[in-house]
Amino acid sequence: MEHTKVIKPETLDDLIKILHKKFEGDSINVEEVQDIMESYESKPDEWMKYAKFDQYRYTRNLVDEGNGKFNLMILCWGEGHGSSIHDHTDSHCFMKLLQGQLKETLFEWPDSTSHGDMVQKSERILQESKVAYINDSIGLHRVENVSHTECAVSLHLYSPPFQTCQTFDQRTGHRNIVKMTFWSKFGERTPLQTTVSQENN
Ligand code: SIN
Repeated sequence: MEHTKVIKPETLDDLIKILHKKFEGDSINVEEVQDIMESYESKPDEWMKYAKFDQYRYTRNLVDEGNGKFNLMILCWGEGHGSSIHDHTDSHCFMKLLQGQLKETLFEWPDSTSHGDMVQKSERILQESKVAYINDSIGLHRVENVSHTECAVSLHLYSPPFQTCQTFDQRTGHRNIVKMTFWSKFGERTPLQTTVSQENN
């Protein structure tokens, strides 16, 4: 098979421009998107304004709305922060490490007859600059910064964008639908919600 040359984004803005083009049509090439995101060399100066941390849980910071085709966001993980086990609402999920490392644990979907602990398929450490990919046919995952001393920053692309997902209780497989919220949008802190919502972290 002929291997097409990857366009190397020089900056984060350049990466966003290339992604807009790649997501113009109705279908996407997962490997190509993965390669493009991987070839972006992380420069903290370019993404610092989106990287807003919270003391207690990981934050989701919207960078770009991808002309309605995708959401690009920066997630900031303090020491020990992690997500619930969750699905991806039938979307593609690409995740690139901009700084630090994250642990990804993959689980099987619980079926209606399963009781007790969810079945773990694998676990791996995602290394800086690498791009991981998941969708619902691959399984469910939990993402964690297991370090006690280093924070982590990751760049996520979800296509199509989604506002809710399902989270799962590892001990029982029971699920909940939760709303995904943004800590900031385009570098500006999102106004505080007055109602307490159940979230993914
Ligand atoms: C992920 O699915 O990769 C992280 C969770 C999130 O988007 O909040």
